[in-house]
Amino acid sequence: MLSKKMAKALNEHMTYEFASWYHYAAMMAYFEDMGMMGFANWMHVQAQEEMAHAMKFYRFISDSDARVEFGTIQKPKQDYGTVLEAFEEVLKHEQSVTKRIHALTDLAIEERDHATHQFLQWFIAEQVEEEASVGEVVAQVRFVKENASALFMIDRELAKRSIEAGLGVTISTSPGEG
Ligand code: FEO
Repeated sequence: MLSKKMAKALNEHMTYEFASWYHYAAMMAYFEDMGMMGFANWMHVQAQEEMAHAMKFYRFISDSDARVEFGTIQKPKQDYGTVLEAFEEVLKHEQSVTKRIHALTDLAIEERDHATHQFLQWFIAEQVEEEASVGEVVAQVRFVKENASALFMIDRELAKRSIEAGLGVTISTSPGEG
């Protein structure tokens, strides 16, 4: 059973994860428009991960006998000056998600809410991976300094990122499987 305060905080975070999906889907469209399909693929995988994160919160809130409440999502930014600017924005965003997860964990500890504390442990570890994954791309893009042919090579590399690997699960498209 969640306290009212905990349920409100978890619902707000669920909306933030849905907003992250929206944010990365908009970045995907930006890269597609630029013809950078590898960068767009990276954003697509990222967006899918955010949807999975949001739905984990949804499931936990509902299973904890609290009401799932959706918040407002603002229009996302859809234009960036450079590839580096876009990826630095992703890093900043992920750092803000990490801060929020840690604040939720502090609240769970304060309330002696062991179930929520346990639930959040997966997200604490996930955020370490999320920041490392985008940090790697930021470092590569920063290194090549917007050199077009080097960016093309990175774009080709990022085209290999798969949704299955991103989610850490195998996704079946056939009914009755998975
Ligand atoms: Fe769900 Fe990328 O944090």
